[in-house]
Amino acid sequence: MGHLLWVCTLIFHVFYSVKGDFLIEGLRNIQKRNVAEPVNDIEVYSINIDCKVTSRFAHNVITSRAVNRADVSKEAIFKVDLPKTAFITNFSMIIDGITYSGVIKEKEAAKKQYATAVSKGQTAGLVKASGRKTEKFTVSVNIAAQSKVTFELVYEEMLKRNHGKYEMFIKIQPKTLVRNFKIEVQIHEPQGISFLDANATFITNDLLPAVHKTFSAEKGYVSFKPTLDQQRSCATCTTSLLDGDFTVTYDVNRESPANIQVVNGYFVHFFAPQKLASVPKNVIYVIDRSGSMEGRKMEQTKEALLEILKDTTEHDQFNFVLFDNNIDVWKPSLVKATPENLKEAKDFVRKITDGYATNINDPVLRAVELLDKARELNQIPERSVSLIVLLTDGEANIGETEPEKIQENVRKANKNGYTVYCLGFGYGVDYGFLEKMALENSGIARRIYEDSDATVQMQGFYTEIANPTLVDIKMQYPENAIANVTQNSFNHYFDGSEIVVAGRIIDNDLNFFSVDIQAEGADNSLKYSENVQIQEKDGVSKQQEYIFGDFTERLWAYLTIQQLLEKRISADPLEKEKLKQQALDLSLKFKFVTPLTSMVVTKPEEKEKEEETLVADKFVEAQDHNSPHQSLQNYAYPGGYASPPYQYAQMPNNWVDSDPHFVISVPSKNDALCFNIQEEPGVVLNLVEDLELGIAVNGEIIGKKETGNNVISKETYFGKLGIVNRKMKLRIEVTTETITIMMGKNKKEYTWEKKTSVKKEGFNLIVHKKNNVTLSFGEGATFVILLHNFAKNDSLHTDFLGFYTLDDHKFSAGVHGLLGQFFHGIDYEISNIHETKNPDKPDATMKVKNKLLTVTRGSQKDYKSDYRNGKKVPCWFVHSNAEGLIDGTHKDYIVPDIFYID
Ligand SMILES: *[C@@H]1O[C@H](CO)[C@@H](O)[C@H](O)[C@H]1NC(C)=O
Ligand SMILES: *[C@@H]1O[C@H](CO)[C@@H](O)[C@H](O)[C@H]1NC(C)=O
Ligand SMILES: *[C@@H]1O[C@H](CO)[C@@H](O)[C@H](O)[C@H]1NC(C)=O
Ligand SMILES: *[C@@H]1O[C@H](CO)[C@@H](O)[C@H](O)[C@H]1NC(C)=O
Ligand SMILES: *[C@@H]1O[C@H](CO)[C@@H](O)[C@H](O)[C@H]1NC(C)=O
Repeated sequence: MGHLLWVCTLIFHVFYSVKGDFLIEGLRNIQKRNVAEPVNDIEVYSINIDCKVTSRFAHNVITSRAVNRADVSKEAIFKVDLPKTAFITNFSMIIDGITYSGVIKEKEAAKKQYATAVSKGQTAGLVKASGRKTEKFTVSVNIAAQSKVTFELVYEEMLKRNHGKYEMFIKIQPKTLVRNFKIEVQIHEPQGISFLDANATFITNDLLPAVHKTFSAEKGYVSFKPTLDQQRSCATCTTSLLDGDFTVTYDVNRESPANIQVVNGYFVHFFAPQKLASVPKNVIYVIDRSGSMEGRKMEQTKEALLEILKDTTEHDQFNFVLFDNNIDVWKPSLVKATPENLKEAKDFVRKITDGYATNINDPVLRAVELLDKARELNQIPERSVSLIVLLTDGEANIGETEPEKIQENVRKANKNGYTVYCLGFGYGVDYGFLEKMALENSGIARRIYEDSDATVQMQGFYTEIANPTLVDIKMQYPENAIANVTQNSFNHYFDGSEIVVAGRIIDNDLNFFSVDIQAEGADNSLKYSENVQIQEKDGVSKQQEYIFGDFTERLWAYLTIQQLLEKRISADPLEKEKLKQQALDLSLKFKFVTPLTSMVVTKPEEKEKEEETLVADKFVEAQDHNSPHQSLQNYAYPGGYASPPYQYAQMPNNWVDSDPHFVISVPSKNDALCFNIQEEPGVVLNLVEDLELGIAVNGEIIGKKETGNNVISKETYFGKLGIVNRKMKLRIEVTTETITIMMGKNKKEYTWEKKTSVKKEGFNLIVHKKNNVTLSFGEGATFVILLHNFAKNDSLHTDFLGFYTLDDHKFSAGVHGLLGQFFHGIDYEISNIHETKNPDKPDATMKVKNKLLTVTRGSQKDYKSDYRNGKKVPCWFVHSNAEGLIDGTHKDYIVPDIFYID
């Protein structure tokens, strides 16, 4: 039901040859990637975007050609933004006359190959989430001096009808002037094209002549071929003004509501009846007003609800259920959308204020109850649709919080089959949960992106479902003559959309193909029949092959895979496996990169004469989002109210706490890295060492308390910290009991029981009773040590210390240690985020220090921001004692005692 948008960006960046791209191992100072300005040594001389659409099925080929005019090898990057709804079917590079093509494999098989390659440090993921509706395909390759390269990416998708039109947009951004730039769109629609438009966000009067558009009967053609001069941002500019979306919209004639096409043994059937009265709706809006909705989200939600009320027609009925930890129902029962009631409803909406926690289970059950009660009281018209629209921005954290349990409760309660739509607002939602709950109740889920246009997104979704004109639609095809039919019964038909069914014909002697459709309209039952003569093999295809011949078969496969994947979400485990296998078989047979397959590209590495394995995976909505950064936030916040988004520090802010968990904040990415160091009690680890300043911080590991019941715990903590300032002849020992300051020959001991302040030239220490020690060596070198202490009779917990840097800008470039080496920042790239057994903890590939590591999304706690409970901080977890992230191995950080400095 989404806006089916078709997007591609085409960017060529040129970097100076790979040198600038290497991070030199062992250097404490991380060199930033040297992203040079694009240079003209590599000339992109041709970009060709070729789109062929036959009966809604689009086959797109993007070809880009470049030449390296320099005397040394150069790296070129090819980037394309393609729609999330599309499946990549091929990618190839032609280098020196040799074609390197992608091979589509089962994901598991590709993973193995990938893992082997990772261990050799020769891989890269190719696809990342990019825009709301797009994913970005990126590949880079070294081109030898004076050589040429051709990239070719192929992807396919079915254009879905929405609001009365098919729309595709091609995002273009060549970033350079291109001698041969061409977009060509050929459309073949057997029903006849009713209108065809082409436009671009960057269009100017000078560019207009470069756009051509024609259509007659079944054929449509759009082209865009700007000359070099037309591409210039200004008459004398060498920069391109081609930067934005090129959009093609069209619709087909609807003389007959249904249309069937039979080609090459497969049929596709399109059904979109026009001008029917809409069926009355009974809608319960279940609206989250929990604490995290506070502010803009709440304002946007209210605004959207007011707009929705404005568009509500008098034959509709509605009610509101507002929830946080409490539930408020507006009216005891459904009310008619009379002008008076609408006015009252608007006043009610305007007065919604935010509350506290998030209880999802009970308000949804209440909505079901409200509809059930209205049914019992005969308030629900016989011809009407009953909908529950849930809007939430978080996960349940009060009442029933187990997602499976909520889904089960709703499924069981919803005996009358009300449709449940779930809108997930922002990044704090568990989208997978919402999607499953919607699909189990014949609805769909939609993500609302937290942005200035959130109101428009919510309203847009509503207008898609605002006008059901048919319910209980059943399509019947000739029995025994067909097989493998896609979904052929539907709860609703919404005005402006289209129902598509496809299948395989197994009776070779079939001369006529007929379909009978039964549905319930606003006033009566409706029947449609359609009958087509199956033409001779040769006769048909002449017309259709104007575009491409096997579209019916590929459209069928595309639709079948989409439906199998969707069914899988709400299937039981056994069924799930079966559906997965079917979808996988089809993906492999038709060569689609779906969530079950990967495309493996092996490219030559010019220098080492070694091969590099690249993998393109499909992104899945439950995981991916607007930008990689936003997607991370989604993993990070399972709790709505309980965990408002973490404010990453704007300054490097690193710490180690608990079972020693190290957290390295990365302000430039608004994210964090984390790792554990597993060592034996008694071991002392170096956390910070700056030989220039003469300052070091070391920590001694302690084990957990003996519980007396022989339970051996591997948990370890920091029980003692040593801080040395060699220049000041100062040593400070902090344990869970005492704070000892040794300066030259003087030694003074303090306890945690009393507030204390020690001030010396260039040194300041404050003991905050039973809570923390703040320690500063003047401006730019400030630490906090937190005391975690438990009751004396607590046999489970051991007292321990946490160490936090508050300000580290005074430290020299050579600062090292497990925390210190990150004081001056760290650069990394995340790609290939993919699902693991635990949906909240996806894995990804991290490129750091010119190595590729597998990392896992997780979170750690910041007790400095919330002393009692700790504040959850989402981070990328680096496994194996941070191997690959830290310089050397963790053993290199073991020092002989807590006052050790090199
Ligand atoms: C992929 O594209 C290349 C280059 O056009 C072609 O040689 C190859 O056969 C294609 N692969 C498939 C599976 O179609
Ligand atoms: C084309 O797009 C421009 C910019 O988005 C817009 O201002 C203009 O109205 C559009 N023209 C048509 C015919 O849609
Ligand atoms: C198509 O139908 C046949 C016969 O009913 C069945 O054996 C086969 O598994 C089906 N294939 C798919 C892809 O659904
Ligand atoms: C520990 O002692 C406190 C009082 O000092 C008491 O309230 C608490 O119940 C005791 N807890 C245990 C586990 O014995
Ligand atoms: C240290 O403890 C004091 C007193 O409890 C508190 O006010 C202060 O915020 C704490 N400082 C840090 C950095 O946690």
